[in-house]
Amino acid sequence: MAKAFSGIQPTGQIQLGNYIGALRNWQPDPGSFYCVVDLHSISAPWDPKELRQNTRSTAALLLALGLGEGSHVFLQSHVHEHAELAWILNCLGRMGELNRMTQFKSKGRGKEDASVGLFTYPLLMASDILLYRVQEVPVGEDQKQHVELTRDIALRFNSRFGPVFTVPEPRIADLGARVMSLRNPLEKMSKSDPDPNSKILLTDSDEVISKKIMTAVTDSGREVAYEPKEKPGVSNLLEIASTLSGEPIEALAARFRDQGYGAFKRGVADIVVEVLRPLRQRVEALTADVSEIDRRLEEGRAAAEREARPMLAEVKEAIGLL
Ligand code: AMP
Ligand code: TRP
Repeated sequence: MAKAFSGIQPTGQIQLGNYIGALRNWQPDPGSFYCVVDLHSISAPWDPKELRQNTRSTAALLLALGLGEGSHVFLQSHVHEHAELAWILNCLGRMGELNRMTQFKSKGRGKEDASVGLFTYPLLMASDILLYRVQEVPVGEDQKQHVELTRDIALRFNSRFGPVFTVPEPRIADLGARVMSLRNPLEKMSKSDPDPNSKILLTDSDEVISKKIMTAVTDSGREVAYEPKEKPGVSNLLEIASTLSGEPIEALAARFRDQGYGAFKRGVADIVVEVLRPLRQRVEALTADVSEIDRRLEEGRAAAEREARPMLAEVKEAIGLL
């Protein structure tokens, strides 16, 4: 069984793309760690009250998915080794390689008021991963480049200072690694999109989910077919339905081919509603007891520290810190 590490930012509310591209692929295997990366979310402007609320609700979601049993769920800021290793990796990462990160190019490049943290953020992510000696990092497509940078840094460190780090691999699902916006199927679905109809939140009611899918932008024509280039809107809905129901895309497309977009969207909405309802109910039950969430995060912190502390000590020794 491969050990895995992954993280999610408590910025805004979790959307369906996070679930399909990432959370769904996180397995509760012993030795795996799943982290609410609160330090990453302060690389963009934030409100302290919202940060506090979103951190607890994101943790509640990971616990509701069962990731605190077997594997471990914790908060990044609770384990100071992350920030400490990040400084060391800041001194090994290169301006040129960080300048090539497409996420920085789209969010920060050329903006005088972007934070320095937004630029160096991939090195904090590398620290998260490398502290836990994991083989796999399950993420959506948009994080692949950051995991590849992590590999480069680990290899560079090992060749210079000895075999300290385990070199991880990104694990990206074949289907659903890039769920697109319901309003513009050429852009990815994102927590930070200001248009509420572009994304399905995991907290949305059955009615709201159905309404958003029924009004999703589709393509010209009326045949339901999986053609990501020609029919990006319909293809996105087919991917969503297939990943959530387990029914192959071809079977879904064949079933709805001649029924028109209305009946197709109703079918997709039913699938999404049935998957998200029990999850939403488990999150609501957990959120009612904040002290229970905090207690379980404390367990996660203790487990994470047991791995991170000796790892950081090994790094410091290898690089010559006394
Ligand atoms: P973030 O919201 O940036 O913290 O992302 C958390 C995880 O969700 C990462 O593994 C992302 O790659 C994944 N993710 C975010 N948006 C999408 C999307 N639209 N489709 C698939 N995966 C996504
Ligand atoms: N940067 C990731 C994102 O925005 C979140 C993240 C932080 C992460 N640390 C990580 C993902 C470590 C995987 C492994 O989605």
